[in-house]
Amino acid sequence: MVCLGNICRSPLAQGVAEYKSHAAGLNWEIDSAGTSSWHIGENPDQRSIQVAKENGIDISSQRARQLNGKDLEDFDLVIAMDSNNYSHISNLAKTETERNKIKLLMNFAFPNENKPVPDPYYDGSFDRVFNLVSQAVDALIKEYS
Ligand code: 4NP
Repeated sequence: MVCLGNICRSPLAQGVAEYKSHAAGLNWEIDSAGTSSWHIGENPDQRSIQVAKENGIDISSQRARQLNGKDLEDFDLVIAMDSNNYSHISNLAKTETERNKIKLLMNFAFPNENKPVPDPYYDGSFDRVFNLVSQAVDALIKEYS
């Protein structure tokens, strides 16, 4: 799960995907990263921690890291929160196989619409982001399980 800072959206996407895949009996390895280096080593934003907690999910021990080229080798899917993230990830892809792993999260819920998970960092819309992420992760699990 990839966003810009790896402190707001992708930590939520990681936490929700871990929670829901585990509940579905799947043994998926899920991680998250940012395209930027800005928040490396930081915990998720308090507002992400809070909205996750309100929904029974603890993301407080996550630490931000920066996406790297090896992630595209290691993971089966590399999922972007918005089209800027998608472009950055694409720049790291070395092969067609790696390029085909890159998906936009909201397209699982709304195929081909290329909707973003809007960045809540400035406007504080963390409840909305949680609900969007949750809806898309449900669709992702349905598609791949
Ligand atoms: P994220 O949100 O990409 O969902 O983690 C942001 C976090 C930090 C900044 C921007 C977006 N920032 O400008 O530092």
